[in-house]
Amino acid sequence: MRPDSATPEPGEPTAPEPGGMPHDRLHIAMFTDFPPGSLGGISTAVDDQRRALERLGHRVTVFAPAPTDPEAAVPTWLVAVPAPRALSVNGFPFVVPTRGVLAAVESELIRRAPIDVVHVHTTYGVAILGAKVARRHRIPLVQTMHSRDDVFVERTSPAPWASAVGMRILHRCLVSPRLLTHGGGVARVAESRTARQVWHMMLAQARTADVVIAPTQHFADRLRRHGLSGDIRVVSGGVDDDLLATLPQRSAHSHDDPLRLLWCGRISAEKRPMVAVEAVASTPGCTLDILGSGDQEHHIRTLVDEFGLRQRIRLLGSTDRAGVLAAMADADALLFTSAGFDTQGLVLLEAAAAGLPVIYCDPDLDETVPTGGGLRAADPSADSVAAVIAAVLAYPARLAAARDALSDKAVPQSRMTRQTIGIYRELVGTERLRRGSMPVRPEDVPSAPGRVPGLGHSVVALRQGLHFIVGLGRIGPVVRVDLGTRPAYLVTTPELIRQIGFRTAGEFHRADLQEAMHEAIREASNVLSGRRHEMRRRQMAPALRARRLARYAVTTAAIADDWSRGLPHERPVDLRTEAHGLILQTVTSTLFRADFGADALDRVRETVPWLLGEVIIRGALPAPVRRMRMRANRRFARDSAMLREAIGAVVRRYRSQGVDHGDVLSVLVGHTDEDTGIGLSDDEIIDELLLMVAAGVGSTASILAWVWYEVARNPHVSSLVAQEVERVVGEGPVHPDHLEQLTYLRRVVAETLRMWGPWISSQTADGPVTLGDDETGRLTLPDGSTVIYSPYLVLHDPRFYTDPETFDPDRWQPDRAEDLDRKADLAFGVGERHCPGNTFAISTILLCSAALYSRWTVRPAGRRRVRPSTTDFVAAPSQVRVRLEPRR
Ligand code: HEM
Repeated sequence: MRPDSATPEPGEPTAPEPGGMPHDRLHIAMFTDFPPGSLGGISTAVDDQRRALERLGHRVTVFAPAPTDPEAAVPTWLVAVPAPRALSVNGFPFVVPTRGVLAAVESELIRRAPIDVVHVHTTYGVAILGAKVARRHRIPLVQTMHSRDDVFVERTSPAPWASAVGMRILHRCLVSPRLLTHGGGVARVAESRTARQVWHMMLAQARTADVVIAPTQHFADRLRRHGLSGDIRVVSGGVDDDLLATLPQRSAHSHDDPLRLLWCGRISAEKRPMVAVEAVASTPGCTLDILGSGDQEHHIRTLVDEFGLRQRIRLLGSTDRAGVLAAMADADALLFTSAGFDTQGLVLLEAAAAGLPVIYCDPDLDETVPTGGGLRAADPSADSVAAVIAAVLAYPARLAAARDALSDKAVPQSRMTRQTIGIYRELVGTERLRRGSMPVRPEDVPSAPGRVPGLGHSVVALRQGLHFIVGLGRIGPVVRVDLGTRPAYLVTTPELIRQIGFRTAGEFHRADLQEAMHEAIREASNVLSGRRHEMRRRQMAPALRARRLARYAVTTAAIADDWSRGLPHERPVDLRTEAHGLILQTVTSTLFRADFGADALDRVRETVPWLLGEVIIRGALPAPVRRMRMRANRRFARDSAMLREAIGAVVRRYRSQGVDHGDVLSVLVGHTDEDTGIGLSDDEIIDELLLMVAAGVGSTASILAWVWYEVARNPHVSSLVAQEVERVVGEGPVHPDHLEQLTYLRRVVAETLRMWGPWISSQTADGPVTLGDDETGRLTLPDGSTVIYSPYLVLHDPRFYTDPETFDPDRWQPDRAEDLDRKADLAFGVGERHCPGNTFAISTILLCSAALYSRWTVRPAGRRRVRPSTTDFVAAPSQVRVRLEPRR
């Protein structure tokens, strides 16, 4: 009976729907190191799976080296991954997964998006690329382990040990540790040292995946024995449904004819074709046709000639699968001499489908050869195989019984592919669940735990601080947090945060914050929205361009060096207080530097700390309560007015002079917008100068204090920092030219920003805003809703940063950092409100830190616990008490 294998099962998409494809069809990206159409089980399996998936209504894109025939057209389902011409391994092109190749693969992946699942079939260059793009784009990853690479290397490589070590090292260098999600080495198993090396590589690749598929149970067991934990499923290969539908009729066999044996496959050592030749040579009464090609072909041909076996043994070369099935229809038995290598053997499945009995010798293959459909030799030697052939010649009824046992034993590919689709769907479902399903209405949004009637979540937030925030991502993509009685919607995924940052969710305003600070700062960029915000950002940009920053850095380095020189070593120092004083000094010194501005600058430094504290308190209080704080309000109004007046006078002098003092104010005064020809008014300039102090000082100082705290409490980091600063800065003074070379310190700063990044950003919906997309579902929040997000939450989410509570600067090493999800890098915000002062802040922190470490060895002092205080949008350490020892 021919199986009607392509009949869909319930829940499976059928044919394309009129005018389009079924809405639940999947798009699978398959990655393989073998070009399509090349000889061998993996390439055949990938091709069969692709066609079965397409037949079931799904879409497949295959990433593989270009077909070996340069004339062959590249089909639309294929992305040809570039491989160096000169490099080939065992006759196959070898793809080196360099950054350039990765970028090319990635851009094609994005062009063909959305991709639901990445399915990798090999363990070399293309496979590594598959694992990388899956992880970077958070696409579920399936890895099929098809082959015994260990045996392959042992039997085919001229220098097995060296090849195995080379492969392991290469794989290790190319797959970053972040991809090795399950960890672990290789368990002790009795095997050669070469095999062990190769297993390291095989398991490293398998461990990148969410689910590993093995074609047989015995291979799945072997993977486990070697130490692979995690989710391993067994899904057998199959035979293409179209081929099954057109199987050739079996030819009749007369008793007088010799026994016709067939051997198919790669004529290469790991398949042991010599055993077949030897067994046939020693057993009269049978012939052998060999289909295939490979590096042992010539050797076998010579042997056949030498022993005068041409009449009995024919080498017929390679053919396509239809040719193989036709040959099977003409043969009496398949001779399958591979032992300890094949994990399944696709040719065994084809033989079963063709009703061809098998003579084999590997007990592991009992799982693949249908019961009764084969005769197994006592051991893999040629003598034992010959003994089975002799037995068949003596008792032909055995073959007839085997043929009967094979009737209806075909394994259609589509049946197996349905099992694989089940796995894909599970993973897609899990990934969606991980991202959380979107509530449909605002009232369905789950609430954060710990809400107290009338006080909302304020109590639990105050009590638990940042711990409260970190857990909320697990609740869902949007979580309700009540600020007192006012509900706010906390968005927890980078994708949704981007919809806010890029305003694709809708418009937002910050009228509340504007009102809370309007006496001091009226209309600065952080409270403007829409087109006015865009234009202000354009007008401000020249003040923070690289050329200007280089000039500010000279000022900063000089101030930092002076400060470091003046630090005391006789008594403990609180580096948190020091950081705030130093950053206030450095940031304000870049604002205006003309002599006549000195008094105004002093006023800024005196007044701003208190005013900023007030802005935060006023922003957190409801307007009626805010108005009741009469004394504080009066002082706020008075100090703000004096400050604005003092800065206003400086602005007017700058305008009248028209001189560039190398500071921010010179740029702002001289600026006119290219598009509109409009410059900034005095009031607008005052607003922006004060915003730079408000937005820049507290956050930069807090991150700087955390850098010093983290370095002081991590001796390993501390010694690496000290070595680098010694090498780059020496005795000092620190200079902006050093910035480029402070690579390790830069990673320390990046990790501190991840560890202690801003914990809150808040805005108000200006009209209805809609979060989500087709995949997650959509949630519309009404006009006036408070929408918040927390960079800190995402920066501590293990989905984006492995082991997030560990301070690990090396996660920013280029090879590891490239696997991080860029969308989750939120320390400086995202989209239109992305921090314009980021480069300035990082250079300032680097220069100040280099100035400190070039003069001092910093040792923690006292055991007082350091707590993060969340009164500003970047948490500040409560104190960083240290003792300083002069370095020289
Ligand atoms: C390590 C230090 C810093 C961190 C972590 C930081 C972080 C941020 C973040 C997350 C935002 C976006 C807030 C939002 O969602 O609205 C932001 C905005 C802003 N930052 Fe920074 N910042 C830092 C230093 C600075 C410095 C030194 C300056 C000034 C020179 C500055 C100027 C601004 C301004 C003007 C905005 C408002 C942008 C707008 O709304 O268009 N920041 N910053």
